Amino acid sequence: MIEQLGSSQEEPLRRGFLFACTDDSERECLGRLLFAAEKSYGPVVIRVRRGDILFLDNIDTDVLHGPFRAVSDGSVDIQESAFGGKYRYQVKVESLGRVARVAGAKRVLRMFGLERNKPIFRDKLVGLLGILQSEWQKGGLVSQQELSPFADALADEIEAIRHSTAEVDIEEEIPMIEATTFWDFPKQSYGLTPKGDNRYAGVTPALIIFNMIWRYTEPGELVVDPMAGSGTTIDVCRAEKRRAIGYDIHSTRPDIITNDAREIPLEDESVDMVFIDSPYGDNIRYNEEAQNIGNISSESEEFYDQLEKVMRESHRILSKGKVLGWLIGDQWVKKRFTPVGMKIYERLCRYFEPVDIVCVSRRNQSSNTGVWQNRARRFNFYLRGFKYLIIVRKTVGKRIPERPRSVRWARYARDGSATHEH
Ligand SMILES: C[S@@+](CC[C@H](N)C(=O)[O-])C[C@H]1O[C@@H](n2cnc3c(N)ncnc32)[C@H](O)[C@@H]1O
Repeated sequence: MIEQLGSSQEEPLRRGFLFACTDDSERECLGRLLFAAEKSYGPVVIRVRRGDILFLDNIDTDVLHGPFRAVSDGSVDIQESAFGGKYRYQVKVESLGRVARVAGAKRVLRMFGLERNKPIFRDKLVGLLGILQSEWQKGGLVSQQELSPFADALADEIEAIRHSTAEVDIEEEIPMIEATTFWDFPKQSYGLTPKGDNRYAGVTPALIIFNMIWRYTEPGELVVDPMAGSGTTIDVCRAEKRRAIGYDIHSTRPDIITNDAREIPLEDESVDMVFIDSPYGDNIRYNEEAQNIGNISSESEEFYDQLEKVMRESHRILSKGKVLGWLIGDQWVKKRFTPVGMKIYERLCRYFEPVDIVCVSRRNQSSNTGVWQNRARRFNFYLRGFKYLIIVRKTVGKRIPERPRSVRWARYARDGSATHEH
């Protein structure tokens, strides 16, 4: 007799998740009763909770297998040796009685609008389970007698999903990791819980931090934000299962430690990532603290000298090979442009090696109004449309000297043909 679905946890969430496999990995998934994904689906896998209902989509044969139930929470390296180490984000499963195989998986998933980064709730989950249920009942698969305990349990589960009042029953699309160097996030937060306080002047878009930690850390690793403001980094880390420490010169909540970012009370090389959204100059009055670097104009070298102390401290606490993300915007004030981003980049390169630069679209700025846009056109200046996310790394050893390389020059004739010479 199979036990009542979801009974292994106090408050069943009654959600479904979709996993994918190939012909190669199907046997291992079913043999080990372990579903797995690579890191790009890590944000989905770590959200799977014991008791969730899972389906396995073989993308080679276009067959959907299910239903299964998660018997562990989603995690990393539950079985390190599985899948040759290729799919490290894993969840242990058990089959719910008989596994049904539904041909034409793509069509079924399209019909319900199901994707791997969308948990399946209520009507869609009931619908999908119904399809598997009817696959069982098609006959020939198992005898009615053999089937009936599974069928009863599944029917009970479908009823329970129908009547579920769990609050998580709101469709939450799990963000995907960005693929390009242009990020444009329409909202400050994501998911069902707030990340930071979107009323805090200068609050960071949470998906910037989401992307940084998924690219450069693993669950359980330690992230530090020395200028944590309203605590966005702490909240994102909590949601994504990283440890976090947030400091600020003026603490806004109990889990942010009051501290000057120029002297961080942590040991050398003890941290896995640092994220900083620093003041961009003296454009925002964050607080009345005398040591607030946001009191100094970015037109003066003093501003960069003070932030360089923060860079040096961040470098000291970071473990070798680990990454720092620094969010910064340029300034145009009183007819004067200051390339704050370039100047910060130049200072960072004194300590770190560059990894990349991402352009983050600036939305919801107070100046993003019709009046300001008209002014910008009439008086020939630009409103700030983006920020820089500068990503740098603490070198592992000595910096690698650049290898000499031969350059192939191309000379273009007027007819468009090119000749190459060394
Ligand atoms: C752009 S805000 C950070 C926003 C934050 N990431 C969030 O999402 O709420 C910059 C922060 O730097 C802090 N700050 C300025 N000078 C500092 C210093 N010397 N040490 C630590 N924090 C400082 C300010 O108090 C402010 O909260």
